[in-house]
Amino acid sequence: LRILIADDEPRFAKVLRQALVAKGYADVSVVSNAHDALEDASAHPCDLLVTDLCMPGMSGIDLMAEMKRRWPGIDIILMTAFADVQTAKSSLKGGALDYLVKPFHNEELVSQVRQVQARRRAAGIEHGNEREGIAFEGLIGTSPQMRRTFASLERAARSDASVLLLGESGTGKELAARALHALSARHAGPFVDIHCAAIPEHLLESELFGHEKGAFTSADSRKKGRLELADAGTLFLDEIGEMPLSLQPKLLRFLQERHFVRIGGTDAIAVNVRVVAATNRDLSAEVEAGRFREDLFYRLEVLTTTLPPLRERTGDVGVLVRHFLRTGGRSPDAIAPDALSALEQYRWPGNVRELRNAVERAIIESENGPIGRAHLPDKMTKHESEDHVPAGPSRTPLPDTLDHRANERQLIEQALASAGGNKTRAAEMLGMTRRRLYSRMKLLEMASDEEAD
Ligand SMILES: Nc1ncnc2c1ncn2[C@@H]1O[C@H](COP(=O)(O)OP(=O)(O)OP(=O)(O)O)[C@@H](O)[C@H]1O
Ligand SMILES: [Mg+2]
Repeated sequence: LRILIADDEPRFAKVLRQALVAKGYADVSVVSNAHDALEDASAHPCDLLVTDLCMPGMSGIDLMAEMKRRWPGIDIILMTAFADVQTAKSSLKGGALDYLVKPFHNEELVSQVRQVQARRRAAGIEHGNEREGIAFEGLIGTSPQMRRTFASLERAARSDASVLLLGESGTGKELAARALHALSARHAGPFVDIHCAAIPEHLLESELFGHEKGAFTSADSRKKGRLELADAGTLFLDEIGEMPLSLQPKLLRFLQERHFVRIGGTDAIAVNVRVVAATNRDLSAEVEAGRFREDLFYRLEVLTTTLPPLRERTGDVGVLVRHFLRTGGRSPDAIAPDALSALEQYRWPGNVRELRNAVERAIIESENGPIGRAHLPDKMTKHESEDHVPAGPSRTPLPDTLDHRANERQLIEQALASAGGNKTRAAEMLGMTRRRLYSRMKLLEMASDEEAD
């Protein structure tokens, strides 16, 4: 049972955690406000939220509603001062299981937690979120990489700055853009997207900024651009890497000044739009090559979130397969273990989109029986017999022979680099404890600025 305690009095929350840990509930985290609670729950699935009713910023009631909306399976217990008992009582209708009136004995909380656990066990949902895949506004994934992505999207949603979404094709950039909008304060406003590669170059400017009547020969009436249509909402600039150089200064000017002029017009039009851009290209390389303006790149990359490729998080293959089976009208278990393991070892150049297509095809091919290897494309089942290496660095044994050492050093360096130097995260990626990572680094004579934890 994973428990999250939210209370703006950190000492009180820590006492509660100690009381729970003493009773064997080891997985308890503590946060001091609702935003951190959402961020923590995005990064790690949580079964039970214990929250204070009054906190600065978002109240416990609003936090409860938001948590229920995102993770319908979550259980919630409220804590409240005597003066707010009425509010707490009415919150039971909003989905809270129970409430505790402060001050209460630790034992009261422990007993309620026991009841929650017993109920979840009986319903077979003790680790519901882990097994079914945490859904984050439509994005599925339980891997540490995806959890970090969820937390980063959660942070970005809270700000109003432009966001750049990077990632290979099919990794979920569009879903992430929609999630950002849904989680932001603008969620009631429009979400407007424009695909820079799909619209012919000479039409893109008018699609984006609109035009006045008579601006060009075919402009027989005034037309609003998508930027204007996105007022009070979010504009999603998909495949920003394909935006023609000639148009980039106009976009940059809008990002700096927040107003623009329609083609053929003279008036500056001010709109309140948050821009989210995505690309599967290496934008900094595009800048090097002179195909993308450096100043626009810097303007966009302030808040960057990268969607990790599926082959780097093979642990998500299973939860995604279950998800696509379910959305395809099948039981989530309707796949043979050897078919699933073939999918886990495939390299997924087309990422989640390719996986989704494969599952949808297999559902048809298999008619009503479970999905077997025979229902999968050859390329997904063939490679396995050729190189029978387990996927991902986490399952790679770490022997001490010399050439393996070079390999291991490289693995560690890669993990450290993608964790931005954070050793706890790097260790997590490598499937080892932090302590073990330190000892391996010492053995391999790799530099480490802090020695132990
Ligand atoms: N984490 C995920 N959970 C569930 N579905 C996903 C996830 N990631 C991607 N998908 C699905 O995969 C498909 C591709 O996702 P999406 O269009 O967001 O990718 P993209 O990164 O924008 O790709 P491209 O660069 O090719 O445009 C969609 O059908 C989407 O629903
Ligand atoms: Mg896309």
